[in-house]
Amino acid sequence: MRKKVSIVGAGNVGATCAHWIASKELADVVLVDIVEGIPQGKGLDLLEAMPIEKRDSHVVGTNDYAATANSDIVVITAGIPRKPGMSRDDLLNTNYKIMQEVVGKVVANSPNSILIVVSNPLDAMAQAAFRISKFNRERVIGMAGVLDSARFRTFIADELKVSVENVTAFVLGGHGDTMVPLARYSTVAGIPITELMDKATLDRLIQRTRDGGAEIVKYLKSGSAYYAPSAAATEMVEAILKDKKKILPCAAYLQGEYGVNGLFVGVPCKLGARGLEQIIQIKLTDEEQAALKKSADAVQELVKVIGA
Ligand code: NAI
Ligand code: 2OP
Repeated sequence: MRKKVSIVGAGNVGATCAHWIASKELADVVLVDIVEGIPQGKGLDLLEAMPIEKRDSHVVGTNDYAATANSDIVVITAGIPRKPGMSRDDLLNTNYKIMQEVVGKVVANSPNSILIVVSNPLDAMAQAAFRISKFNRERVIGMAGVLDSARFRTFIADELKVSVENVTAFVLGGHGDTMVPLARYSTVAGIPITELMDKATLDRLIQRTRDGGAEIVKYLKSGSAYYAPSAAATEMVEAILKDKKKILPCAAYLQGEYGVNGLFVGVPCKLGARGLEQIIQIKLTDEEQAALKKSADAVQELVKVIGA
């Protein structure tokens, strides 16, 4: 039987995610939004591209969650994006209210689904979805680390003039200014990047990664990034649907791992058919551990505000 992925929020990230999923023929896609006409129009437009793409994914847009029934995965992108001058945290209260409405409807229609949360502020919204859904932690995963790592990989490849395929990189922690790009675990064809560039260059790339979201917002002015974010969410969808056991940096509910308890923070996760199948524990230096704690503390502050 064909797999079914529903995407809540047919805006920039949601619609582009639908595009990636359908064009890779990963699943049938249901796009849901609160605005009448937008999901229907975008869904039909995308469906009409399938003969050209030679893909049989069925795509439909709707305002009615009934069409999402029994989804394998639900990607939640509903919410407002930030504008220049706004931090991701400025979205907290508005997007929390949206999350309360959306997750209730998602769970009622797809009680066995796996949720991939994208809405910002990411870690706090993943925590909200986890609490509201009452799903176990294997079935609620936040998307941020794949995006932040992809940005870091892009900047490393560009700096060293090498293929992006040669570059692996890991960014841990919350999806905010305190995120933790891990230089020690970032390599080019297996060579640690610390051997390929000096500290000043590395620090510059790390800072650009931390500011990666803001850099795009500054250009777009009326919204935030969506091509790379939706590609990142799609990589997670693919890892789960194909049971790939792929290790990706994702926001997961930690229960003592990395010294963090009862909080969503970005860590290396193994994704497979059951969702979050394992949290990979790597040994951090004291400095990295302190940076991760600082990042987790920032997430905790937001979670406290919404009481999630
Ligand atoms: P957008 O404004 O283009 O789309 C958001 C959509 O959500 C709109 O179509 C809106 O009508 C819909 N929506 C609002 N309330 C809703 C509700 N109650 N039910 C259903 N749909 C509802 O925004 P965009 O650019 O797609 O971003 C979406 C969210 O994802 C934002 O919060 C943004 O900050 C976040 N984001 C997170 C990233 C990450 O790395 N975790 C990366 C990029 C964006
Ligand atoms: C980003 O990093 C807005 O969180 C989003 O682009």
